[in-house]
Amino acid sequence: MNIRFESAGVSYGARTVLQPLTLDLTENRIGIIGLNGSGKTTFARLINGLTKPTTGRVVVNGRDTSDDKAASSDVGFIFQSPQNQIILPVVRDDIAFGLKSRGFSKAEIDAKVAEVLARFNAGHLADRRAHELSGGELQLAALCSVLATGPGILILDEPTNQLDLRNRGLVQRLIESLHETTIIITHDLELIAGYERVLVFHAGQLVADAPAADAIRRYKEIAA
Ligand SMILES: Nc1ncnc2c1ncn2[C@@H]1O[C@H](COP(=O)(O)OP(=O)(O)O)[C@@H](O)[C@H]1O
Ligand SMILES: [Mg+2]
Repeated sequence: MNIRFESAGVSYGARTVLQPLTLDLTENRIGIIGLNGSGKTTFARLINGLTKPTTGRVVVNGRDTSDDKAASSDVGFIFQSPQNQIILPVVRDDIAFGLKSRGFSKAEIDAKVAEVLARFNAGHLADRRAHELSGGELQLAALCSVLATGPGILILDEPTNQLDLRNRGLVQRLIESLHETTIIITHDLELIAGYERVLVFHAGQLVADAPAADAIRRYKEIAA
């Protein structure tokens, strides 16, 4: 998996929310930290083409995210509020939805839904209604829907936000179990504590790109 930013930046009118930056991301785990409004989500959305760079380009596995739909299908994204991305009322149907839109046959869809539910021990959620799920269950259902289509890269935007200690622990263990390249935006610094690569954003600028201990130290200086 390779993600390359080539002088990629984002401005809205005269306002620059992400200063152009150049970097390669190849690690299996990457953390992103920074104050509210520092540009973390904007940076992450560039990786799957949800946001287009207004300058430069972003290339995922050799494909430009601005003009290649295939680039975005390599990247799953779980939003800050996962209830906003579960489209169908019943969990099983929501997992099937993304597969349907990618043209899989009924038999393939059934097999892939069963496979992802088994992978995450989430069979008990299959026939539940999404709006009745707890925060931890919602994260789990969203994870099943997003990973069912087999993206090689997963982005999680503040996945432990609003979770109680038990659900937070569940989500942390889930994340540890993933073989996918995983990029985590978080204020939960314990979640990324062992990571070799953590990016720190401040006021739309990448201000540190370092192992967790150094990056967290920099973030604490900024927040002080
Ligand atoms: N579509 C948009 N139009 C205008 N401004 C935006 C848009 N999306 C984000 N921003 C602004 O960009 C800045 C960075 O936002 P964001 O990347 O969401 O920060 P973070 O995720 O670090 O909290 C914020 O000031 C936000 O208001
Ligand atoms: Mg954000």
